[in-house]
Amino acid sequence: MLDHHFHISVLVNEVITNLVTNVDGIYFDGTLGGGGYTAEILKVLSSKGKVIATDLDDSAIRFCKRKFENEKRLIMIKENFKNIKKILESLKIEKIHGAVLDLGISSYQINSPEGGFSYRFETDFDLRFDKSQGIPAYEILNNSTRNELREIIWNFGEDKFAAKIATALENYQKKKKIKSTRDLVEAIKSITPPNKLYETLSRVFQAFRIVVNDELNNLKTFLENVIDVVDKNGRIAIVSYHSLEDRIVKEFFRYEEKSCICSPPIIKCECGKTSRLRRINKKVITPSEYEIKMNVRARSAKLRIAEVLR
Ligand SMILES: C[S@@+](CC[C@H](N)C(=O)[O-])C[C@H]1O[C@@H](n2cnc3c(N)ncnc32)[C@H](O)[C@@H]1O
Repeated sequence: MLDHHFHISVLVNEVITNLVTNVDGIYFDGTLGGGGYTAEILKVLSSKGKVIATDLDDSAIRFCKRKFENEKRLIMIKENFKNIKKILESLKIEKIHGAVLDLGISSYQINSPEGGFSYRFETDFDLRFDKSQGIPAYEILNNSTRNELREIIWNFGEDKFAAKIATALENYQKKKKIKSTRDLVEAIKSITPPNKLYETLSRVFQAFRIVVNDELNNLKTFLENVIDVVDKNGRIAIVSYHSLEDRIVKEFFRYEEKSCICSPPIIKCECGKTSRLRRINKKVITPSEYEIKMNVRARSAKLRIAEVLR
């Protein structure tokens, strides 16, 4: 399979130029996908440099094993990026020089029926990145009350019609359990105007994907851990695709940049906090109009970068 069939990487130049500050360094790519970022990092690294890359999806690891078969500077592991500390420990690596996450799903995951990531294919409504662990989306859906469904769709899909959608899902399930993506589309079709159907489905898929994979907690855990393993002056770059993720990154970077959190009026700082990060871009970086024209998936991308201070 050609690289661009698997995935077209987003904001590549912006990520690589801001991330790689040491050509002999060790870099962590937590979301390997089609290996787009990893390939570009390897291009600028010297023969001493290294990339440690993780993905939870077997198809991404399989694709990249072939793509990078002769690359000695790369270690690929099927793992959750939230376990960055444990992964580096197992490799006996104390410090790295930068880490990147490109959140969400790859084009391959959207465009292939096996993952159940898209409403365009009739397949199990699964949504797990790693099919060997966790609970598929349809099971969560089957075992949730109307109120729980409303909360999932409201909190993680940010859909203002969450209550109406939850009722439709409950009513549908009285006749037939939702198992496939087709079932889900049928249930939602009954209450959504045709011109809003795809928007609603995208939000519902996003909501369940976040829950099934515990995506927001993975990101929080990663941020709390990565700051301890990136060396002084090393960078952390995160590309996110929706406001829930971007808010977590923005708030974390802002908080870690602050050297004092005492409540005003402050005569003498007593909180003992120190600044652990410096934001490289105060204003979020987004793709150019040209990039969005060439790759519509880039349209919601937001890049934030911070430098570790100690
Ligand atoms: C947008 S794609 C990455 C694309 C990649 N940057 C490229 O240029 O080809 C996101 C990838 O992250 C993986 N992923 C999502 N959550 C993960 C997690 N917690 N740990 C490891 N991989 C994860 C997905 O399986 C998917 O392959």
